[in-house]
Amino acid sequence: MPGSMKTPDTKAGGARGLVRVLEDLDAVTAAGRERFLAAAERAIRDHGVFRVALAGGSTPRKLYAALVGAPIDWSKVLFFFGDERCVPPAHADSNYRMARETLLSKVAIPNTNVHRIYAETDDEQAAAEEYEEELERVWGLIHHEMPRFDLVLLGMGADGHTASLFPGTKALEETKRRVVANWVEKLGAWRITLTAPVINAAREVVFLVAGADKAGVLKEVLQGPRDPARLPSQLVDPSDGELVWLVDRAAAAELAPR
Ligand code: 6PG
Repeated sequence: MPGSMKTPDTKAGGARGLVRVLEDLDAVTAAGRERFLAAAERAIRDHGVFRVALAGGSTPRKLYAALVGAPIDWSKVLFFFGDERCVPPAHADSNYRMARETLLSKVAIPNTNVHRIYAETDDEQAAAEEYEEELERVWGLIHHEMPRFDLVLLGMGADGHTASLFPGTKALEETKRRVVANWVEKLGAWRITLTAPVINAAREVVFLVAGADKAGVLKEVLQGPRDPARLPSQLVDPSDGELVWLVDRAAAAELAPR
């Protein structure tokens, strides 16, 4: 049944955070829209700007579309991406293209407020370094400081990956870099991704998970033993921020009530 549950607040267990079980994807979308607008209002009030990292994939499409027309001062919103496929920005697989089609092309946001990952280059390392430099510039970072996003939106794959942190890949071990190029053997492709330390420096992280195909892995991630090498979504554990899982009933079907 829809409702909320707290996952075990212990490191020994699975991922931590508040899990909200919602009826369906539309309800997940509505809850996501609420959290986005609340996070934006808080950030703009507190420091004059809202810096948000968008998730890729398909689940967030409805949320981005639902933000069109929202009561927000887009000139104070800076969009970033949690990860990107190494394809041109007009490619069907591009996370930037998805965000642009659903939201960015439909709101009055200055182009300079949209910080896309230039992943179409054939030098993936350079693309990661360039994005890392962009984060350093926007936040004025020094040494190994992590940028603190006001909100990071994430999805989760049926294999437990999030952003482009895939099971058994090198990026999972990164503790210093903010952005890396990650070779994903199962895809036979490079991805550019924020690292776990960046995600965990955020003020708020919201997962959007929907569909029966996620039920098994969601149970493992939230209520199973800690095994982030196999279940990278378990790496997400903000050190000084909120973690919220917005999941639909189909994805929550195997969760034991807490
Ligand atoms: C990507 C995403 C990825 C996505 C999951 C879930 O680039 O694909 O960043 O982490 O969130 O794969 O994707 P769906 O929402 O399509 O299930």
